[in-house]
Amino acid sequence: MGKDVIVACDFAGKNEVFSFLDLFRERKPFVKIGMELFYAEGPEIVKEIKKRGHRIFLDLKLHDIPNTVKKTMAVLSRLDVDMTNLHAAGASAMMQGALEGLRRPDGSRPLLIAVTQLTSTDERTMKEELLIENLPLPEVVMCYAENAKNAGLDGVVCSPQEAEKVHARCGAGFLTVTPGVRFADGDVGDQKRVMTPEQARVAGSDYIVVGRPITASPDPVAAYLRCVKKFCD
Ligand code: C5P
Repeated sequence: MGKDVIVACDFAGKNEVFSFLDLFRERKPFVKIGMELFYAEGPEIVKEIKKRGHRIFLDLKLHDIPNTVKKTMAVLSRLDVDMTNLHAAGASAMMQGALEGLRRPDGSRPLLIAVTQLTSTDERTMKEELLIENLPLPEVVMCYAENAKNAGLDGVVCSPQEAEKVHARCGAGFLTVTPGVRFADGDVGDQKRVMTPEQARVAGSDYIVVGRPITASPDPVAAYLRCVKKFCD
């Protein structure tokens, strides 16, 4: 599977997302649709973006009882998305249920990726609020990645800094989908630990998820192509 750049389409509504996507006339980017856009516009937005020829990572981070997640994944799979995700904290039965739900009648299914610990969760929150006290945060991340691998998932969302370790622990074929990417000469914004597209490639990321360095650029197509050149070529 080739490396690719996934553009995080964090827009509030369809007018904004369509004006953005209209800019891309030749290479159609793989796009990430998150909760904001999905809940604002509903499943139609997925169908419309798919119809325009984009691959889609539907980032809804499911976390519920196995039966509910299985049935919901079946609905999402029918939207013909290419990748979707859930919280590894939902545990193995939920992850296996999700995989079953995603499988289409022809045997195909979208890639399924797990969120380990959200990057907004720090060690204090993990220990004091989630009561995970016996392991440091990076070890919890690796444990969740292993659980996801053992449940049959395709990979995890992680920081590019963790990609190498995840591959060492879960195998080279286990996908690392990594946000937190910035150009060397760009704004870091609210991201804390960032890597450039070249560094993410060297670290072994399989997909980089890039939002504002592309969406807020004065020339989004040039910024996207710069990412592709640095990360994929
Ligand atoms: O604009 P930016 O490049 O920071 O966007 C990164 C995207 O990746 C956003 O959609 C953000 O919600 C998502 N993300 C992240 N860090 C995580 C998980 C997801 O930045 N740990």
